[in-house]
Amino acid sequence: MLSIKDLSFRYGKLDVLNGISFDVFKDETVCILGPSGSGKTTLLRLITGLESIQNGTIELSDISIEEKNLYKQHLGVVFQEPRLLPWRTSIENVLLPFELNEKKISDEQKEKAIEALKLVKLDDFKDSYPRELSGGMQHRLALARALVTDPDLLLLDEPLTGLDVNTKEELQDEILYLKKETNKTVLWVTHDPQEAIYVADRIIILSERPTVIKEIVPVEYGYPRSRLSSDSISLEQHIRTIFNEKEDN
Ligand SMILES: Nc1ncnc2c1ncn2[C@@H]1O[C@H](COP(=O)(O)OP(=O)(O)O)[C@@H](O)[C@H]1O
Ligand SMILES: [Mg+2]
Repeated sequence: MLSIKDLSFRYGKLDVLNGISFDVFKDETVCILGPSGSGKTTLLRLITGLESIQNGTIELSDISIEEKNLYKQHLGVVFQEPRLLPWRTSIENVLLPFELNEKKISDEQKEKAIEALKLVKLDDFKDSYPRELSGGMQHRLALARALVTDPDLLLLDEPLTGLDVNTKEELQDEILYLKKETNKTVLWVTHDPQEAIYVADRIIILSERPTVIKEIVPVEYGYPRSRLSSDSISLEQHIRTIFNEKEDN
């Protein structure tokens, strides 16, 4: 589905990514786990085309990122902050992705927006403004907006950071449910090993800058997972060991 080959990127003199290659296969949930400043957001910005490629290639469903418009139709993105427009109601926020292409919203698009709101259980709040929603609801609204165009790949950049533990764990379950319900492939950036172990099929562990892939760890047990099983805990120990290892040089 997503194929990244030999991706390197620098901001001026700052070497950020240093030869990153990996694939995400259809229906997978892959987590990118890396320390702060390792270039996780930069990587997602490259995949969404917000940053231009300096070195390497990115393909999505066999479409090169060079074919911008075609490529973008296959992507949905959720950032760390929900990035909602405060002067727009829930449904107006969810309709935004359609407006970037066309001026006029069709009835069919409105129905899709209502469906997306139903999926995240916010249809009763379709005429509410973001300030009238709780933190968790705002994040769910951002998810509905990413899903409304029915993309193949959902990109999540630390989408649950800043939420309290209960809301965060509820939303982890909610995202797994949405993924299943809508047949999405998910690439999920996080700095939280426990989150990665709870949601991912595979975990890609990044080094510090200049960033390489340290290890790709498969998580082999099925869903729903227990956060406190001995499997989860020993995997967490393994991942923390890799995560904290300093590179030799
Ligand atoms: N627009 C930018 N211009 C210059 N440096 C940047 C820019 N955006 C990010 N950086 C730097 O690139 C590195 C990687 O940033 P980022 O991708 O945000 O890391 P992460 O998301 O893993 O925390 C950081 O050192 C950051 O300071
Ligand atoms: Mg980031």
